[in-house]
Amino acid sequence: MMRQGLAAVAALAAMVVGANAQTPVERGSYLVNTIGTCQNCHTPAGPGGPVLDRAFSGGPQVWDTPMFTARGANITQDRETAIGAWSILELKKALIEGVRPNGVPIAPIMPTSYYGVLTERDRDAIAAYLKTVKAVRNEVPSPTYKTAIVREIPPGGDKQMTDAELTDPVKKGFYLATFGHCMECHTPRGATGQSDFSRLGAGGEEFQGPWGVSVSRNITSHQTKGIGAWTDAQIKAAITDGVRPDGTKLKPPMGFGSYKRMTDADLTAVVAWLRTVPAKE
Ligand code: HEC
Ligand code: HEC
Repeated sequence: MMRQGLAAVAALAAMVVGANAQTPVERGSYLVNTIGTCQNCHTPAGPGGPVLDRAFSGGPQVWDTPMFTARGANITQDRETAIGAWSILELKKALIEGVRPNGVPIAPIMPTSYYGVLTERDRDAIAAYLKTVKAVRNEVPSPTYKTAIVREIPPGGDKQMTDAELTDPVKKGFYLATFGHCMECHTPRGATGQSDFSRLGAGGEEFQGPWGVSVSRNITSHQTKGIGAWTDAQIKAAITDGVRPDGTKLKPPMGFGSYKRMTDADLTAVVAWLRTVPAKE
């Protein structure tokens, strides 16, 4: 009994030290390269997948919507073709408010309206990590804005969270899933093209790419239409490996490879929160 108790205390102490031992840059790297899936949109893709020696130097896709035409920007530290000249404060403002240092708003395909939840510590960590990204010179064609830029804030997305809240697994799951903008892809859009948050998680958005067309699925807690009847392990396998319970493979653009590098505790938290998403048909 006693020995077990001590072992548990020692394990807990190691975990706490582990969490503290993570430097801001390591934490920022974790957030950017796992749940944040930033490379999905900001790293060029070759025949073999992402071109990692040119990581973050500009994404492969072009988004052409009634509001804008934009490409994943070069977010390396190159000072001329990227954001190397931006200060930490300017970076944080761009990430959270969606506004560049020159005052020009960023097209909302860049999910800044989902980043308002980020704790101050994580905002600093992401900015600190971005400051370490190797400069790569690459002039990405400028965006065109066809109408005023309108951001859509998901439920709770504009309320900054605290470190203390992240000790609650469901709140931590909400935090990670919001920063990871799961619901940006998994919520249907209404006639105006804006997400219909009254149907949060019901799926139905179409994505075209080299994979053909994929349609986001219902990830609410609905027992038959959603994932309410799946086990935790089945939900995790879908997120990290793109495999459904019946063994079929999910198509892109969901960033399975990035999610696969999340800690199991973080995945468990995301699943715990998904189970609280109200069932929708
Ligand atoms: C769904 C795709 C997508 C994801 C995911 C994404 N971005 Fe972006 N991001 C874009 C696009 C597209 C632009 C350019 C928008 C424009 O030109 O108006 C952009 C612009 C930016 C800018 C402004 C660059 C500039 O020169 O103006 C920064 C900084 C940035 N992203 C950082 C990030 C970080 C950090 C992450 C992850 C935490 C991330 N992005 C995730 C698509 C994405
Ligand atoms: C860039 C868009 C995008 C993002 C971001 C995204 N997904 Fe998905 N997701 C999809 C699409 C599209 C599918 C369906 C693919 C298919 O059917 O081949 C899918 C499928 C799933 C499935 C399988 C459901 C089923 O019934 O098979 C789960 C579970 C899931 N996503 C959870 C998540 C979670 C949790 C997050 C955030 C951590 C997330 N997704 C982020 C686009 C996205």
